[in-house]
Amino acid sequence: MYRTSIFRLLPLLILAVALVLGGCGRDKAEEQAPAATQQANSAEANQAEEVAAGDPVKGKELFATTCAACHGPAGEGVQGLGKDMTTSTFIADQSDAELLAFIKVGRAPTDPLNTTGVLMPPKGGNPALTDEQLMDIIAYIREIHVD
Ligand code: HEC
Repeated sequence: MYRTSIFRLLPLLILAVALVLGGCGRDKAEEQAPAATQQANSAEANQAEEVAAGDPVKGKELFATTCAACHGPAGEGVQGLGKDMTTSTFIADQSDAELLAFIKVGRAPTDPLNTTGVLMPPKGGNPALTDEQLMDIIAYIREIHVD
């Protein structure tokens, strides 16, 4: 009698322990990662506040040479390479200074905020771009954004 009920309960106990352990581990990782990203972003955003607003005409050319390969000639995105920028709520929510900080670091596939599993390289893979040129690109990105 007694032995049968223990054997029936055992799988349930193991399942319960596994759920509790698994749940705790995940919460911790989720709490820590975005906090670290936010700190890095705001530190860079503060530095960027002194950068003047960009020129969208120059930005369009720079976008065509560095960003269009992955994000499409008009920022509409390329499947498997880069996201659509024209309808991005992430872009809409960022200030120019925050976007500048973001573009300088990019977004690794392992970043919890990554949505496609594909790398957004720092400065779009063109380390020669200056803050001023990135601000030109941001001015252009604002023009093609539809919301
Ligand atoms: C090698 C391909 C590649 C290049 C080149 C590239 N990007 Fe990206 N970019 C990506 C990918 C992939 C993502 C989406 C990452 C993700 O899944 O979250 C992304 C995301 C972004 C985002 C965030 C969009 C969102 O909605 O989350 C911005 C802003 C951005 N890129 C700007 C740029 C700019 C500006 C350039 C040019 C200087 C550039 N990218 C060049 C691949 C690229």
